[in-house]
Amino acid sequence: MSGPAGADAETRAVHALAVRLAREAGAIQRARFETTLEITSKSRPIDLVTEVDRACEALIVEALRRERPRDDVLAEEGGAHADAGAAWRWIVDPLDGTVNFAHGYPCFCVSIGVERDGERHVGVVYDPLRDELYEAVRGGGARRNGRAIRVSQAATVQRALLATGFAYDVHDSADDNLDRLVRAVKHAGGVRRDGSAAIDLCYVACGRFDGYWELKLHPWDVAAGILLVEEAGGRVSDLAGGPAPASGREILASNGPLHDALLALLR
Ligand code: IPD
Ligand code: CA
Ligand code: CA
Repeated sequence: MSGPAGADAETRAVHALAVRLAREAGAIQRARFETTLEITSKSRPIDLVTEVDRACEALIVEALRRERPRDDVLAEEGGAHADAGAAWRWIVDPLDGTVNFAHGYPCFCVSIGVERDGERHVGVVYDPLRDELYEAVRGGGARRNGRAIRVSQAATVQRALLATGFAYDVHDSADDNLDRLVRAVKHAGGVRRDGSAAIDLCYVACGRFDGYWELKLHPWDVAAGILLVEEAGGRVSDLAGGPAPASGREILASNGPLHDALLALLR
């Protein structure tokens, strides 16, 4: 398959719909950025949800029900529906980077991953403020705004720019990723915490980051980003080097050449 143009008709339709919905939800985010928002918390006081997360999810899920009524949908804010035997499953983070969005910090996106027969098949991430659309179809490479992207060529941890993040239970869990952060800060070229797992993965895919790891993510955080990194020539695994869990339980994404050294550093 040579990208969406060479993909089968149904893949092309799914890809086009994912792109359209990511752009439509992103337009809502752009319009509501730095406006007064209704904000509540979920699992913990620091786990926020805004009216914009919900509006974006409603837009996407309602469109999928209308246009792809037989597909499964898993969406973060509860808009799931499942049909036994569906071939396609849409995994939606309507707004990844909610804490940033709620604070007017300009780093957030829409993430839509689509599985076909249980395999990651299409991934779309849209950053509405930078107007950057990242997309990949299995076997067809990864693109940003239509141009092919590749992972970096960094070969040493010492020069690598890494990213990570922390789960919302960080205040009360001992499994808090801080030991790994300290090791990375001490050994890597730099470490960032930008607050959007999907954008972190896109940045590995396009070479802005050389590696990214995080624990306790969810399927919607990683469904699009894992495919983007793989299609951009990178490698994604769990922290033991095994297959990247679709659950998002733990993830290490890298440019490939750095992967084993990062596994050793972070294990
Ligand atoms: C969060 C972001 C953040 C990561 C958290 C995620 P949300 O997603 O991706 O970077 O560190 O673990 O839950 O809540 O903004 O959709
Ligand atoms: Ca998320
Ligand atoms: Ca979210």
